[in-house]
Amino acid sequence: MTEELDAAAAWDRLRDIRTTAGAHAAGLVSDGDGGLRWKEPATPEAVELTARYLPLCLAGPRAAFAQLGQSLDGFIATRTGDADFVTGPEDRCHLHRLRALADAVLVGAGTAVADDPRLTVRACAGTNPVRVVLDPRGRVPLHSGVFTDGAAPTLWVVGPDVTPVPRPDGVDVLVLPDAAAASPGRLLAALAARGLGRVLIEGGGVTVSRFLQDRALHRLYVTVAPVLLGDGVPGLRFPGTPVMREALRPPLRRALLGEDTLFELDLRPLATPGDGAADEQDRGAGQARHESQHAVDHGGGEPLRRA
Ligand SMILES: NC(=O)c1ccc[n+]([C@@H]2O[C@H](COP(=O)([O-])OP(=O)(O)OC[C@H]3O[C@@H](n4cnc5c(N)ncnc54)[C@H](OP(=O)(O)O)[C@@H]3O)[C@@H](O)[C@H]2O)c1
Repeated sequence: MTEELDAAAAWDRLRDIRTTAGAHAAGLVSDGDGGLRWKEPATPEAVELTARYLPLCLAGPRAAFAQLGQSLDGFIATRTGDADFVTGPEDRCHLHRLRALADAVLVGAGTAVADDPRLTVRACAGTNPVRVVLDPRGRVPLHSGVFTDGAAPTLWVVGPDVTPVPRPDGVDVLVLPDAAAASPGRLLAALAARGLGRVLIEGGGVTVSRFLQDRALHRLYVTVAPVLLGDGVPGLRFPGTPVMREALRPPLRRALLGEDTLFELDLRPLATPGDGAADEQDRGAGQARHESQHAVDHGGGEPLRRA
């Protein structure tokens, strides 16, 4: 009897897939319905994992995706900046999978200062992405782990007013020519020019909100934990709409991650055309469209749908 493909084995194959040809080489075949399935029998967990991450694997060489873990009332940390942990272990594993599928993981200066994060892949198998610290004012301390632990390549992005430019050992420094170069679109282009086309914007709220507001994101993962903080560091904030009918309602799908709920928003319809990324995704992610056609409903998962 053929052994079933389990979730760990499926992830081992998925994490290296970037093209449809690569998907076929990894053992995915057409399901006859516009999507892909494993040619051998797979466990429900492996099927669910594949449905969740294959669209991202096939998102093309230019893809910007963001994540936030937040409370029910919309905060990503307490008022003191404590974010350990807003969401549960399943979401941590999800975050590490997102890192493993990215060329680069970017955080804003606020997160680098508050959390001193490692930004490496530890909760699942995978390769560490390049760590990018967006720090226009050069306020992230030189003794921060990302600059000293040598765990992964690191790029420190500082503004033109940072002088003299510090050069921590083993850390690449990108000095932006002007303030406008910190705009999400220009940053993504600068990273792509360095071979870092697939970028996870990991936080915090200010940084992810700017990428969202500038329509630079193609996919947004928001995990909501059943906890109320009352106040704290806000998650998504951008100029809102006066009337509900004009609110953003992108296609989405949901899944349960332990006690948390993951919302995955497809922002491609909102993405600024012309940066190559949206077009690339549409071309490269033929199979990703499958997610809106093929319901994989384990743990409350739902296909992407237009709300
Ligand atoms: N729960 C989660 O998922 C999660 C994830 C990450 C972080 N966090 C928490 O979030 C908090 C930090 O978040 P935050 O929103 O305060 O800060 P943040 O987004 O980490 O950093 C914001 C800062 O980054 C720089 N920046 C970001 N985008 C920029 C752009 N496009 N142009 C110019 N500068 C840009 C600016 O630095 P300057 O101010 O120096 O100009 C800005 O003030 C921490 O408490 C952390 O623990 C939670």
